[in-house]
Amino acid sequence: MNKVVSELKKVMEDAFESAGFDRSFGMISLSNRPDLAEYQCNGAMAAAKKYGVKPIDVATKALEVIKEDADKCRMFDKIEAVMPGFINITLSPSYLSEYVDEMASKADFGVDKNGSGKTVVIDYGGANVAKPLHVGHLRSAVIGESIKRICRFYGDKVIGDVHLGDWGLQMGLVITELKHRQPDLVYFDESFEGEYPSEAPFTISELEEIYPCASGKSKTDEEYKAEALQATFDLQHGRRGYRALWKHIMAVSVADLKKNYGNLKVDFDLWLGESDADPEIPSMVENLKKSGLAYLSDGALVVDVAREDDKKEMPPCMILKSDGAALYETTDLATILMRERDYKPDEILYITDKRQELHFERVFRCAKKAGIASEKTKLSWIGFGTMNGKDGKPFKTRDGGVMRLEDLIRQISDAVYDKMSDRDMTEEEARNISFKVGLAALKYGDLSNQASKDYVFDLDRFASFEGNTGPYIQYTVVRINSILSKAGSDLSGAKIISTGSESEKALLLTLARLNENLAGVYEEKAPHRLCAYMYDLANAFNRFYHDNRIISEENEATKNSWLKLIKLTADVLTCCLDLLGVEVPERM
Ligand code: ARG
Repeated sequence: MNKVVSELKKVMEDAFESAGFDRSFGMISLSNRPDLAEYQCNGAMAAAKKYGVKPIDVATKALEVIKEDADKCRMFDKIEAVMPGFINITLSPSYLSEYVDEMASKADFGVDKNGSGKTVVIDYGGANVAKPLHVGHLRSAVIGESIKRICRFYGDKVIGDVHLGDWGLQMGLVITELKHRQPDLVYFDESFEGEYPSEAPFTISELEEIYPCASGKSKTDEEYKAEALQATFDLQHGRRGYRALWKHIMAVSVADLKKNYGNLKVDFDLWLGESDADPEIPSMVENLKKSGLAYLSDGALVVDVAREDDKKEMPPCMILKSDGAALYETTDLATILMRERDYKPDEILYITDKRQELHFERVFRCAKKAGIASEKTKLSWIGFGTMNGKDGKPFKTRDGGVMRLEDLIRQISDAVYDKMSDRDMTEEEARNISFKVGLAALKYGDLSNQASKDYVFDLDRFASFEGNTGPYIQYTVVRINSILSKAGSDLSGAKIISTGSESEKALLLTLARLNENLAGVYEEKAPHRLCAYMYDLANAFNRFYHDNRIISEENEATKNSWLKLIKLTADVLTCCLDLLGVEVPERM
């Protein structure tokens, strides 16, 4: 279906043209005075300048054309030219009810999906193997999952890759600490030529304790740090025993990560990581050298990426350290190379902490300059802000430690559970529902903020059933579903009509704006705009429900129209929640 705003634009452009002006002046925007109008056209101002006439005359002439056409007039409740030359537009309830009725009959509510169908690799999650998943990784996972779902809804072919941090110093640290604790393990015997055990010599909880312990030691003990660096180097250069240990670390850690991401309802198509890009590095470096782009600077291999018009300093992109070791930049470049080869994407999108901006700027420039990324591949990056505690500092546990994601989810579902203690349901049902609602609180609390901004994690506010929260949206859907099942009506022949009620008109208008709102969400990859729309829609429903007695309505046609209208509202909200990665519970 055409967007309402596009239909209006067409009418207005035709009118400007017939009135003797250029059609490009028939632009339409949302009214910035919703108390006066729903949409407006400000094109008469610019047209007046061009044609040397008064804006109000341009607007009046365009309106005269529209007023001659009865068919077009049906669209409007009111359309008027006001000084100095604005055209204010209020749509007619019957036009809106027809539009919304058609939405109800179409797949995906008739949302106009023209122009999509790209192949997009989304790099999100980015957990580091052997380290517990903490809230720092929450934002990347939650935002990336939502953007993936939004792009898929629009018909893009999306490949989600978790891009694990599985090749860095943390691996050398774990190996070193294991060696100190269990020096007799066969993995450390260099003369061993047999097959290594298939069972890992540690559990996930041991692993989670080993890394922080090793990382702590390396900060105070120079010798220990040197040992860990050496172990990292040996691992990356193929030492057999270390590779075997690394595989164990990967298997144990990835199983745990899958469980955690699964609980979060975040899922990836690819479980690749930095290590997968490693085999590509030698030939990539060779090509960079051969092309003359890479050169030695203080022993390190670098590529210049600065441009003349740079406003800030742009240091070169480091390819190899002076000891020949690869860096974060190196694996990212090699990963682009692989993605180009394997998926030929139109776009590769990264979702990380905004502090990584310079890293990606340099990697992108280097990839383009060296032809690692093709000219037409769009490389893009969304940097997100920090989740802070109420003290305005990065979110921590009560004793100042790093909060584990699992504990955070438990905390928030417990808070919801406490709220629902008066409900008549079994313990199991209450726990299941609290989990779904808790996750909604967490995700919506995050996604309703513009990604680049820091935000304060406020458990009480996020888990509230009122206000701009995930639970409020879920509750609205649950409420509608319960009205529908109480009514028990067969709506197959029902038609959405307008009855003149003000709150009904507002709900129709909000539903009709789904098409244009979602388009903005998709173009800007902005889940926070989706949340804003959902909140408007839920509010419009609640006002409508408050003002109209649906179940006791005696006029059958009106009653069925209203039921169909609220069913569409619930369906739209459910779909939008799904685009955020949030489920609707049966009851709340
Ligand atoms: N593992 C990284 C971190 O924890 C994030 C990875 C992001 N993706 C990438 N291709 N660099 O900071």
